[in-house]
Amino acid sequence: MRLIISIITGIVLFACTAQPDNQTGPAEVDNNREQYLDWFKDSKFGMFIHWGPYSNLAGEWNGKQVPVGSNAEWIMKNLKIPVTEYRELAREMNPVEFNAREWVELAKSTGMKYIVITAKHHDGFAMYHSKVTPYNIVDWTQFKRDPLKELSDECREAGIKFCVYYSHREDWDHPGGYGNNWDYDNDWGSDLYHHEKFEKYLEEKAKPQLTELLTDYGPVGLVWFDRGMYTPEQGMDFVRLVNSLQPATLINGRVGHYNQEFIGDYQSTNDNGMPPGGLEEYWETPQTLNQTWGYSKFDKSWKSPETIICRLAEVVSRGGNYLLNIGPQGNGEIPDTTITIFRKAGDWMERNSESIYGTTANPFGELSWGYCTVKNNRLFLLIRDWPADGKLNIEGLQNQVKNAYPLSDVSSKLTVVKEGEITYVELPAKAPDHPLSVVVLEVEGAVKVSPRVVTPDAEGKAELNYLTADTKGEAKTRYNRKGGFHISKWRGPEDSVEWLINIDKPGKYQLKIDYAANSDWEGKEYEVKIGNHSYRKTVVSDGGYFNYREFPVGYIDIVESDIYTLTVRPMGEGEKYLMHLRSLSIEPVEKAKSHGWGVE
Ligand code: GLC
Repeated sequence: MRLIISIITGIVLFACTAQPDNQTGPAEVDNNREQYLDWFKDSKFGMFIHWGPYSNLAGEWNGKQVPVGSNAEWIMKNLKIPVTEYRELAREMNPVEFNAREWVELAKSTGMKYIVITAKHHDGFAMYHSKVTPYNIVDWTQFKRDPLKELSDECREAGIKFCVYYSHREDWDHPGGYGNNWDYDNDWGSDLYHHEKFEKYLEEKAKPQLTELLTDYGPVGLVWFDRGMYTPEQGMDFVRLVNSLQPATLINGRVGHYNQEFIGDYQSTNDNGMPPGGLEEYWETPQTLNQTWGYSKFDKSWKSPETIICRLAEVVSRGGNYLLNIGPQGNGEIPDTTITIFRKAGDWMERNSESIYGTTANPFGELSWGYCTVKNNRLFLLIRDWPADGKLNIEGLQNQVKNAYPLSDVSSKLTVVKEGEITYVELPAKAPDHPLSVVVLEVEGAVKVSPRVVTPDAEGKAELNYLTADTKGEAKTRYNRKGGFHISKWRGPEDSVEWLINIDKPGKYQLKIDYAANSDWEGKEYEVKIGNHSYRKTVVSDGGYFNYREFPVGYIDIVESDIYTLTVRPMGEGEKYLMHLRSLSIEPVEKAKSHGWGVE
């Protein structure tokens, strides 16, 4: 490969003033925690349960409704129900139809491996026997039973991981909790984070309740925090508390503030979020069955079983877990429609769960016909759109295929033909299953796919982002609620990121880089290398972890069509991350007539 690149123009870096902020660097992490994630990564499918006094209200109070499309568990805040009044409403909770065995059986038969139940939601009411406050289902209502105790026992018996949701920052009942601004005067201005009332709430309610949950209910698979704690220190306090009580208990990413560096054991996406894939930190997406988490008698916008099955396959093929919600009624009954949908999804899982559990993500790009998962030397093709000509194309599989068969009929053999980059699988005329049929390819050795090559669009522009990035060393493709998808965790020259880009129109191009850097990351040096030309740059901060800005890198003259390697790496070692890199872009700046392209 011959490559001549020359710098045409100098490089301009915008000067900018770093804003002071209250964010600190990456939080301390126990490097051994990765081992605890194994069961979670294998499980793929969990049941979320939103259940509390709001379920009893079912989306209506005093003739006023929580509109469909809003979260019914937010009724107290949405309709500004006074604390004293909500407390009386909570007394009416009497879920006599609650049957822990049936709930656990429903999760299990649907193929779910863990259950996450709201131990305390934002309304502040404890759905278990808390000694911290009588405002709990055993002491406050006539029900007198502890549903979490019953559920945890049933889970253990059924081999399902019992997990709890705990609203740690938000509490509309406690005068120091976050969120109730209709009953309490909690407009604490700039001292919000460390206001003594908030600290009091944390110390006298949130932490003691979490301690109870991790002490009295046997092993807890994970704690699902929500709506992020204010400061990294406060978030880490909860992490440390959970770790000290039950080291193996996982912690979701919402324990920390969404704008800050990720803490916890795995990333929680936004509600109903569906990352495009390619993330190197494990993640889970919480999703609703209709448009609310807590039960609403008005919301009939149920997703179909087909949608649920396809979403499960989509999430798993993109490398995450699917936490699917149910909103039981106040009397403890699970709505019939929920059960019908779950049973159908469960039937599909019964036949096809081999393609879900213990798999890793689709190694190819987007597949027009469906989804793909991998387990050792097996590829599972979850086919949604059965090809009319009976031929399924897979591009970029490097291995030889030893054996191919439908998962529904492992003894029948399918013909596979390999032609260069394309592997063709000859399928039976009719799809054996619905809405996804699974075909298994057993390959020689570990699954290997051709490296991804970015192809510029018709105008010659290309964006290089986390999706097509090949990270090395400690550099990771990541997600943050505020910061979106980015590449970080790099501290030294071994931690780099690389792209392959097919530039087939020679000419002059401009290269730009889009990143964010915290103010104390400013001044670090990095290298951007394309082909054999290298640029040395200095990190400039726009004042925050996720205040992205685009900076020019330089101009390059590409005289030969080729596949070029573009690399970004920190120049020296350091404590701090280099940057949060969102993307690089390459764009032609003029049509180089002498190179014979782009003639009008
Ligand atoms: C949102 C809602 C909350 C719900 C959660 C589930 O944070 O505000 O009510 O529990 O999503 O992911």
